[in-house]
Parts: sequence; structure tokens; C-alpha cells
Amino acid sequence: MINPKRYLVTAALPYANGPLHIGHIAGCYLPSDIYVRYQRAQQRDIKYICASDEHGVPITIRALKEGVSPQQIVDKYHALMKETFSQLGISFDIYSRTSGKTHHDTSSAFFKKLYDDGLFEEKETEQYYDEETKTFLADRYITGTCPVCANPNAYGDQCEKCGSSLSPEQLINPRSMLSDAVPVKKKTRHWYFPLQRYEPWLKEWILQGHTEWKNNVFGQCKSWLESGLQSRAMTRDSNWGVKVPLPDAEGKVLYVWFDAPIGYISATKELTDQWADYWCREDLAAGQAGTKLVHFIGKDNIVFHCIIFPAMLKAHGGFVLPDNVPANEFLNIEGDKVSTSRNWAVWVHEYLKDFPGCEDVLRYVLCANAPETKDNDFTWKDFQDRNNNELVAVFGNFVNRTFVLMHKLCGGKVPKLHEEILDEADKAMIAEFQNTKAEEQSALEFYHFRDALFQVIELSRKGNQYLQKKEPWKKVPGGKIQATSAENQKLIDNCIHICLQLTANLAVLINPFLPGTAKKMLYMMKVVDKMLDWENAGKPNLLRVGYSLRPPELLFRKIEDEEIKAQVEKLKAGLVKPATIKKMEETKSTGNPSSDKSSAGKPEIVYDDFAKLEMKAATVVACEKVKNADKLLKLEVDLGAEKRTIVSGIAQHYTPEEMVGKQVIVVTNLAPRKMKGIESQGMILTAEDSDGKLQLLKPENPVSPGSVVS
Ligand code: 2FM
Ligand code: ZN
Repeated sequence: MINPKRYLVTAALPYANGPLHIGHIAGCYLPSDIYVRYQRAQQRDIKYICASDEHGVPITIRALKEGVSPQQIVDKYHALMKETFSQLGISFDIYSRTSGKTHHDTSSAFFKKLYDDGLFEEKETEQYYDEETKTFLADRYITGTCPVCANPNAYGDQCEKCGSSLSPEQLINPRSMLSDAVPVKKKTRHWYFPLQRYEPWLKEWILQGHTEWKNNVFGQCKSWLESGLQSRAMTRDSNWGVKVPLPDAEGKVLYVWFDAPIGYISATKELTDQWADYWCREDLAAGQAGTKLVHFIGKDNIVFHCIIFPAMLKAHGGFVLPDNVPANEFLNIEGDKVSTSRNWAVWVHEYLKDFPGCEDVLRYVLCANAPETKDNDFTWKDFQDRNNNELVAVFGNFVNRTFVLMHKLCGGKVPKLHEEILDEADKAMIAEFQNTKAEEQSALEFYHFRDALFQVIELSRKGNQYLQKKEPWKKVPGGKIQATSAENQKLIDNCIHICLQLTANLAVLINPFLPGTAKKMLYMMKVVDKMLDWENAGKPNLLRVGYSLRPPELLFRKIEDEEIKAQVEKLKAGLVKPATIKKMEETKSTGNPSSDKSSAGKPEIVYDDFAKLEMKAATVVACEKVKNADKLLKLEVDLGAEKRTIVSGIAQHYTPEEMVGKQVIVVTNLAPRKMKGIESQGMILTAEDSDGKLQLLKPENPVSPGSVVS
């Protein structure tokens, strides 16, 4: 969108069910903050919106685990997240919460309008119910054994071990998490939003109109749209959430994914009386653009922001639609997927305590290593290297040398530029200010934040090379500035003048990424915030000749090996093994720890237990994706004496084409289970590597199909 009148930037509303970890920050909060800070420096009319997502099962589950009310949970984590964002310099114009009155009124009115327009389908279906606690159970409240990988602690919507999307019907031995009772089916009534009605419009709007969206985003949308959309229930049986605004809807609330995105609108309403200027579509002449709405999210939110919420906005009418949805992939930690339940995470509020004054270092590392196109890994070693070798040794070093030399060789003032003796190196250095600005600007406009940051660091690297080439310190005989010839002083002046102007440029260019650092640089240069306006980037005369500047301050400090070692140890020591989680939960609910003797993993078994398993080698003869299940593949395997159909949760690790012809190991005596309407007659064995990728287990050399594994 060219030159919109105004910008509206949203960052996914985090669930108020736990503290923020660095994966959250790298996923959408840091990129959105960089984008907004850049647009503000461009003097654009922009609003930056976020809030805590305080409804839904994630909150009630947490309340259940901590033994407190959902309200206590959201109060606690909303306050913690708000403070953490602010300390890290995430500069929302508003950080609201969805439990507030404005949001309840707004989302309720939104639902009512769709209802009054006859856009919902009312359906009665059977759902799981806990007879002991008299509660309908959300899929997440049901646990049981995963039919794909036999994990005994799978949830009714997903197995966190093998990643398979599940429905409660697929679980073996399902149990209610509330009472441990066996759930029963009971009739319930809900309102469904018929997404399929919007499919032709969505196809045109995205597949033809937004081919510029990031590959990961466009690809996911395409796959959803090509698989065919279906009606989705927009209400739930619960007492926690926005009440359904209809008579006879006691005990029913809006589905959290219906109300949460409306939270962007409610928060804007709380921020400004002019909220409608940002949200409501205007009648504009051709070639004009009104609001540019950009949703920053993580990849797990793509379908909600690209398909469901736009379809809701379209159905309601009158609202702008997103111009872009730049979703990031996931950030792993030390080679392993972030897992809040296993406590495998770097918690931001703890980082801020452990590294006071290093807020910008975390911002730097998370941007330099952002999972923009694929999942990426955060390691403490890389954190240290980037700090010590890039921030300290390149950027900080250049600024520091420039200031030290200016005080030593130019009396603490900005020296004159003697244009008549500028050489090629001087001119090339000055030209780099503009070049870098242009490159960085175009990268920022198109959401390539890593590239944009790289440009700034490269410019400071060039500054160091320029200083090294010019060696102004060598133009002072015996180190005595008084003994410098007039000709040499001119050379010194030019070099230091250029380095100082470069420093001022670096402050403008780094500001969106490292605002605290830019502020420190302003202080050293004794200039006001206004200098950080983007129009100043590229200019060779930001600092006035003769202006006296402050002594240098270190922008970054070295991070020592011991600090890194301590963080790695803390991460490993905090890791909660799955068996321990279970034990903790048992202790909590019964007050009596189980007698499970194994410290990690499953309890010991005897040979007879193992011997009950029948495993055979098989060859995959056909394979295809399972419709409406992005994690499942349907395989036809040859077991020598017979062929079988197997549904396996490996679709995100292998394509159907890759699978055909591969030899696999199959558990052949597992009771058949239906998944997405397909009967799976066995289970394929895999091992998960450190990147979270599932690898097939197979014989070292091919064996005949049907060979028994023992
Ligand atoms: O995935 C999540 O953390 C959700 N709470 C994101 C909601 S974004 C928006 F729709 F509000
Ligand atoms: Zn599983």
C-alpha cells in the first residue's frame, strides 16, 4: 500500500497465563516495535495496539493448575507482562486487557450484529461432559493416550509429544482433567460461523490480491483455502469469557478466538476517540489509501488473522482489512523447542533482572537471529558472541574511538570539514550514510528486520575501517597535539568530523532497534530527540561545527563466560521432565506424590511388557496428505503378507512424495484408531531430533517387508 494516510499496527494479544519468554518477543513484539518506531521517526500517523488475552481455556487451565480463580491468574500475569514489555522498550500506544468493559461491550455488540444479520448457524451437537463436576469439557480439558505415539498425557486437541492434531474421540482412555471421570457425550447448542461462505472472497482477496505476503503466511492460507473451509463454532460452554448476548444462552461465552482479535478494536477505542478513523473503511478516490492495518503475529496464529478474523470483519462490514500479516516462525532455545510446561524457556523478566542495563542487547540478538523465514535457534553462546563481537567490538568500539579521538585531537569539539582536501575515502564514507539509509529503509518497509539491522552494523564496521585507514592518531608527532602541522590538523579534522557525523547517523539508524542506545548517543552528542527523525538519516551535517560534546560513555559492556555458563546451568536446572510434571500435578490434586521411581521418562517395564509389542519393517507404497489436518499423512504400507493404511503425525516433517519407497518400522498390534475419519491400522516409529524434527526409524540396510523387529 503506497502512502497510506495512517497506520494501525497490532501485535498478537498474549494469553495472560504465564510470563513472557524470548520466543514471544522474537515472534511478534520486537518486529512490530521496530516497525512502529521507524514509522514514528518518519512522522507517520500510527497507532500501536496490544492487550492481554484473558479468556479461553489457556487461562482456566492455568487457574486449575495453580488452584486459584481465572481472575487472579489474569490479574497477576497481565501486570507482569505489561511491566516486562515496558522494561524491554516495547512501545505500545496502549496495552489493554480483554477482561475490561469496553472489550466485553465491543465484542458482544460485534457478535450480536452478526446474529441479527442472520449470519450464524445454530447447531446442536454432542460434546464431552464431566458428570461429576457438571461441566462441558473443552478438548484441552480431556487427556488420554495419543493414538499416534502412545504418549499417555495427550490432550483432546493435540498431542504435545508428536504434534498430532487430535480430537477427543481419538484419545485412548479419555479422562476429564477436572475430576478424572470418564467423560460422557451430552447434547449442547452453539452458534457456528459459516466460513465456507467467505471462501470465494478470501481466495480472491488473498490468493490473487496478496501475493506479496511472506511465503510462510501465503502458503498456509493457500493450503487452508484449497482444503476447503467449514463452519466453526464461535461460542463455548464456560463461565469465563464474554457472555453470549442472547436469551437462553446461560453458561455460554464467546469463543476466545472470536473475541480476542476484536480486542484490537476495543483497545483502539480505549486509546482514542478517533478510533473509527483507524478502523473504519473510507470512501477514497482511486489511488488513495486510508489505513494500513498490519497484524504482527507468530506462525501459530496465521489462520486466525488471515482467514477467520478477516471473514468476521467482512461479514460485519465497514472495517478495514489487514494489508499485511508478517508472521514469524518459532525461536528454539539451545536446539530444543520452547516448552512452557517443561520450563524450557528464557523468561524475559528474569533476563531483565540478570542483565540490568542490557535490554538493548536482548533486542539486538533477537532481531539479528529472528525466525523471519524459518525456525531459528537462540543459544547463550551466540548471545555472548553477538554482544562481544558485534555490539562491543564493532558498533560500540567505533563510537567510543570517535569520541576519545575527538577529545584528544580536536579539543572536545566538532572540528571543521576542509572540503578542499577531501579524498576518495572521505567521500566514499560520506556516501555510505545515504546508501545505508536507503537499504535500511527499504528493508524496514518490507518487514526484513534482520537485513535492516545488518545494514546499520555494517555501516559502523565501515566506520572502523575508515578510522583504521586514516589513522588520525599517527598524525600527531610524539603524541603531542601542539606539535601537529596545520596540514595534518586538517586531515585529523576531516576524519573526526566525518566520524562524528557518522555517529549521529548511526544514532538515527539504530534507534528503531536499540532505542536505549540511541538515547545514550544523543546524550553524548548533547542533542535533542528530534535529531532521531528519519529525515535526518543520510545527512552529513547533523552536528554543528564547533559544538562541544560530552566525554564518551560505554554503550555496551563485555559479557563474561561465567555469566553465560550460569545462564546455561539455570536453563538446564529449571528443566522439568515430563514425569516430574505429572508428579507435581498429582501432588497438587491428591496431596500424595505417586511412587513412580524413575527420575526421567516412563516407569520401568519387564520384558513381558515389551514382548507384547509387535513391530515389523514395512515399505511405504503410497502416501497423501489428510484433508483438514496439517500434521497428518495417510500412508499405504506393504508388510509383505498384507498392506495396511496408517495415519501418522509426520506431515510437517516429510512430504508425501518423500515417503513413497521409504522403509519404516510399524507397530502392528496396536488397536486400530480412527483419525479424521480414516482408520489407522498401526503406528510408525520416529525419533525427535534436537530441532524438533521427527526422523523415521528404519533398518540400517533395507530388509524384506514384514521382517519382525525385536
Ligand atoms: O496465541 C495466542 O497467544 C493468542 N492469545 C493470540 C491472540 S491474537 C489476537 F487475535 F488477539
Ligand atoms: Zn502423540
